Amino acid sequence: MLKRFSVSMEGSLLRKFDQLVTLQGYENRSEAVRDLVREAIVQQSYEDGEQMIAGSILLFYNHHRRNLLEEMTEIQHERHDLILATTHFHINQGSCLELIVVKGKVKDIRELSHRLTSLKGVDYGNFTVAPVEQI
Ligand code: NI
Repeated sequence: MLKRFSVSMEGSLLRKFDQLVTLQGYENRSEAVRDLVREAIVQQSYEDGEQMIAGSILLFYNHHRRNLLEEMTEIQHERHDLILATTHFHINQGSCLELIVVKGKVKDIRELSHRLTSLKGVDYGNFTVAPVEQI
């Protein structure tokens, strides 16, 4: 059920906010505020290491790099408790894209993500996250 509340802000800030609302294609200010609040809550929960989250780790790498595949597999086996699924895509002759879907405590997932993305030969790593609890 939707509840109403009123917000006060400087005219200049409100003008910028209205521009943002238009640019992002929101129907109205309320919809934009709801999205901003949800985003802030997700960010905030990510600060708390004990929070349960689900997310994905995306890795882009060259499979010709010595030992990279072995190290990557080793780490994933070590933290199999955090990994729900791993999908590997062969992008071209040398490049691979690996998508790892994870679930667990923020602190453990963050550590796993850091270990994988900092491996030599990983050209790009991206980590997306959402709290498991409904927001
Ligand atoms: Ni591949």
